[in-house]
Amino acid sequence: MRSRQVLTTVALSFVLAAAAASSVGATPVVSKDAALPVGSNLNEEILDQPTERFGFEAAGGKRSYLFNLGDMLFSSAAIFGGKARDAGMSCNSCHQQGAGNAKLFVPGLSSRPGNFDTTGALFNAKADNGVFDPVTPPSLRGAKYLAPYGHDGRFASLRDFVRNVIVNEFAGPEPSGQVLDALETYIREIAFLPNPKLGPGGRLTREASDAARRGEVLFNKPFPHDPSMSCAGCHQADSAFIDHKVHDIGSGGWFKTKTLINARFNAPYFHDGRFDSFDEVVGYFDKHYDLGLAAQDRADLVAYLDAVGDAEQPYTRNTVQAEVDEIAAFVSVLDVAIPARDKEVIGLTVDSVGGEWRELGENFPGRTDTSVSGGLQERLQARAAVRDLVLSLRRVAMAVEGDDFDQAARIYADYKKQTVAAAASLKLAETWSLFNPVVHDAHFLALKQLADLAK
Ligand code: HEC
Ligand code: HEC
Repeated sequence: MRSRQVLTTVALSFVLAAAAASSVGATPVVSKDAALPVGSNLNEEILDQPTERFGFEAAGGKRSYLFNLGDMLFSSAAIFGGKARDAGMSCNSCHQQGAGNAKLFVPGLSSRPGNFDTTGALFNAKADNGVFDPVTPPSLRGAKYLAPYGHDGRFASLRDFVRNVIVNEFAGPEPSGQVLDALETYIREIAFLPNPKLGPGGRLTREASDAARRGEVLFNKPFPHDPSMSCAGCHQADSAFIDHKVHDIGSGGWFKTKTLINARFNAPYFHDGRFDSFDEVVGYFDKHYDLGLAAQDRADLVAYLDAVGDAEQPYTRNTVQAEVDEIAAFVSVLDVAIPARDKEVIGLTVDSVGGEWRELGENFPGRTDTSVSGGLQERLQARAAVRDLVLSLRRVAMAVEGDDFDQAARIYADYKKQTVAAAASLKLAETWSLFNPVVHDAHFLALKQLADLAK
């Protein structure tokens, strides 16, 4: 899902319901986000989302079945267990659109926005190592070039890393070979974003500034006190700016060299997210390796990192159409899975896509949300259309549970027709939905004010 509204919008209806309850004595609604500690921020309400580019697009290819399945699972809580599943979390919560998540914050598991202790007790008591060691969710752009995996490079294989995330970090059931194949296929397609300032071999092009070009020279220059070292010695320009090795650079252990491609959008920096800017990072290296950089040198190195780390279109505005298209790609795995009588994939799809529709529906404020005026009829119609689609998918699952795959195929064919009309009513209501920046901002301002009142 491009944006997950469910936690926050559920929170708003909870506060509204509680407010109503105190005046008229009705029963308060129980909030779903009780699954995460109060004050958690998954940063899921953003309208401008990190742009996603896939390897096959550059090669003129297309979305394969495995890719679609992987894309869907990447956004699905259904592969997790315990609290992560209850809270509707997915890979995408932390690796937003395959990028990082600078605002991710879970009290008790984060020491600052943008990091997270993956070996804490909240999501899997079995993995709790008793050490508070939060780390940043890395961007997965170019992940296929970035082995070994984990900040400390403890997994040589992407597949083993992903299995470990599901089973040990988020208490999910042992994933099938198919689930792992799909997720691996998807992650391997997450590409670096194009950057016109970078040419072949990671050299700057004429698009880069003079300052960046001076920085490029410094980046390649041997360190004064150890001429066997340079920035470029570890961050190798012709190899995605890495060396596939771990080093102790004085940041608290052995960590892998980070790519610098698209890294302007990867703050906070270092494994634990201790630095907010390239300026701070360069200041750290200057001090740690006693480089004796003049103010101008530091500025030039930052200009170089900005140029290497740039991207053509880093963010993309989310729309109803983009959401509908994405859900259509997810559900298309049923074209294969129903005739193949693949109960695992059918079950996961009904679960995940049902969740996607419900979350999309939450973008259309209901009657109780007073931060939005106008278009109530349209909004209610959009919500009803979404509910009907979820019901149809449920009926597919029921037919499959009864081993009636022909019936499942018929209901699925109807569902597809139904989505055309549903998409039309969603688009009709888009102006009064959270896809409209004005409505979006008013909604989340009201949410914040209510939350502040409740404190
Ligand atoms: C709660 C946040 C969170 C969720 C959910 C999450 N991750 Fe991560 N991910 C992280 C963090 C933090 C790291 C760094 C972990 C480390 O170094 O040990 C990471 C690291 C990774 C890496 C290694 C990247 C590299 O270059 O070393 C991959 C691959 C990855 N995650 C994939 C996934 C997949 C696939 C899922 C879903 C099945 C997922 N993650 C779910 C936070 C998360
Ligand atoms: C000995 C190898 C080595 C050298 C030399 C080196 N780096 Fe790094 N660099 C690393 C490692 C390892 C990390 C990750 C540290 C961590 O996670 O705590 C890193 C992290 C970074 C980051 C942060 C990236 C991110 O996404 O967190 C930047 C920027 C960077 N280096 C730039 C430079 C510059 C500029 C120089 C030269 C002044 C330099 N590096 C020299 C190995 C090196």
